[in-house]
Amino acid sequence: IFKGSTDASEFVAQEIAALIKNRQQEGRTCVLGLATGSTPTRVYAELVRMHKQEGLSFKHVYTFNLDEYYPMAPDSLQSYVRFMNEHLFNHIDIPKNQIHIPDGTLPKEKVSEFCKNYEKKIDELGGIDIQVLGIGRTGHIGFNEPGSTEKSFTRLVTLDQVTRIDAASDFFGEENVPRKAITMGVGSILKAKRVIMMAWGEGKARVIKKAIEGPITDQIPSSFLQKHDNCLVVLDDAASSELV
Ligand code: F6R
Repeated sequence: IFKGSTDASEFVAQEIAALIKNRQQEGRTCVLGLATGSTPTRVYAELVRMHKQEGLSFKHVYTFNLDEYYPMAPDSLQSYVRFMNEHLFNHIDIPKNQIHIPDGTLPKEKVSEFCKNYEKKIDELGGIDIQVLGIGRTGHIGFNEPGSTEKSFTRLVTLDQVTRIDAASDFFGEENVPRKAITMGVGSILKAKRVIMMAWGEGKARVIKKAIEGPITDQIPSSFLQKHDNCLVVLDDAASSELV
């Protein structure tokens, strides 16, 4: 628990940078699982700073983003492809072919094959080394809404109404928020070697309490992280305020 989200974000960026540097020294690649939304933006800003000022290189880093709205064109204002490019990828030296983000442009009949391949690619690269997560007010991680089981993998899902309301301002009205998304599953997330979940602000305090101190239940998919043996939760004071 950190006083503010800036220090907390710098800490998370340091953890990621340490992994990248260690692997580079060993001559090995590393695999990052990445999230979008407001929570990780300062982590990405700090990684960009480390790249520009300290020479942190992403040449041997592979990334897999958790999710993307469906349908979604990559150049749309709300696209997670665009988000990642603007916040991270355009500013670092990662080869483009090492970046993976669920494809919101696929025809429906191609989605399930794409999802299977997404899992396969992660496995072939040796699995995710660090999975970065935010948490939604429904308790979602990725877009695994209530009802998502611990055996869920990358798939097309229906967004919860609370999640669509939370996204409404990005889309200039709830009616414009897509009803579906492609997301990595709870099972995909639990397979990561290390998980770092972050939350900032008092708006997240109630769901953080449920996820960490409540029963493990598919009604709060983030509560399955209690079963992971290498999961770190990084909070600011406000997000931790309801914890015992
Ligand atoms: C985003 C994602 C979501 C967000 C969550 C919190 O890729 O997977 O689970 O992490 O909705 O969003 P923010 O950070 O905007 O509060």
